[in-house]
Amino acid sequence: MSAFQGRDVLSIRDLSRADIQLVLRTARKMVPIAVGEKRSRALEGKILSTIFYEPSTRTRLSFESAMARLGGRVLGFSSAEGTSVQKGETLADTIRMVEAYSDAIVLRHPQEGAARLAADFTEKPVINAGDGAGQHPTQTLQDLYTIWDERGSFEGQNVVLVGDLKYGRTVHSLAYALAELGSHLTFVSPPTLEMPTEILEHVKERGLSFRIAHGLEEVVRDADVLYVTRIQKERFPDPQEYEKVAGSYRIEMDLLRDAKRGLIVMHPLPRVTEIAPDVDRTKHAVYFKQAFNGVPVRMALLDLILGGGA
Ligand code: NCD
Repeated sequence: MSAFQGRDVLSIRDLSRADIQLVLRTARKMVPIAVGEKRSRALEGKILSTIFYEPSTRTRLSFESAMARLGGRVLGFSSAEGTSVQKGETLADTIRMVEAYSDAIVLRHPQEGAARLAADFTEKPVINAGDGAGQHPTQTLQDLYTIWDERGSFEGQNVVLVGDLKYGRTVHSLAYALAELGSHLTFVSPPTLEMPTEILEHVKERGLSFRIAHGLEEVVRDADVLYVTRIQKERFPDPQEYEKVAGSYRIEMDLLRDAKRGLIVMHPLPRVTEIAPDVDRTKHAVYFKQAFNGVPVRMALLDLILGGGA
């Protein structure tokens, strides 16, 4: 039986280095099934619920694709509209219902801590697909897979996280994981959107040095990975505050002129204006591949949690 069977995935911090390595190795084996070259019925008869209270394209669809490629089924909703949430049903009651209809629950919710709360109401595994500005652990697994696949390792890699480091949940989870895996981190954001102190403290505790910068030009030359994020408009209490920082960073061809040959540019997507479209054609751009990687990574995770394991 795999160590993952029946487990919740609420924060990337719940996963040890060995757990992460197991997911990544399993994901690599899933690729031929993810692209439709090989067939699998590993999760036949299993049902996954995807309950999304916030917009999503990639996360929800890649969970669906992953489940379908493994022979399982998916049910759920992609916005609270049209559900009993509109009638005032609590998250607790919704979870208790969905638990009765499925074998595992994937939850996206605007409130930080919602997935952990949901896990208290059910014995079924809960997977956090984003809780407000909190965490996004499955995106991190897909990001780690991408770095491992493209760069071969984590140790000693110079990883620059750019954009909204305050509200961006993908960078919160990723910073924790990369600190654990021995990468050198540089945080680039507007002064008002810096990485939360508790995450910086954690990186420090791991004995790793990190840099904080506000400009990109000064850090791009040494970077092995440039992880770009969207300013999280929907999390700003005041729209005027958003206007002040909107468009703070934009990756253009000029900026990449002095970059290392092997630099990879990543983005969890959706992008707004952070990466100029002509960058897409360069060998640095891996964000669409990164989006595909969500399928084998989620297949691996679902198989480890719901199936027999690797
Ligand atoms: C991210 C998210 O929802 O946190 N998207 C995703 O899951 N790929 C990033 C974002 O919305 O900016």
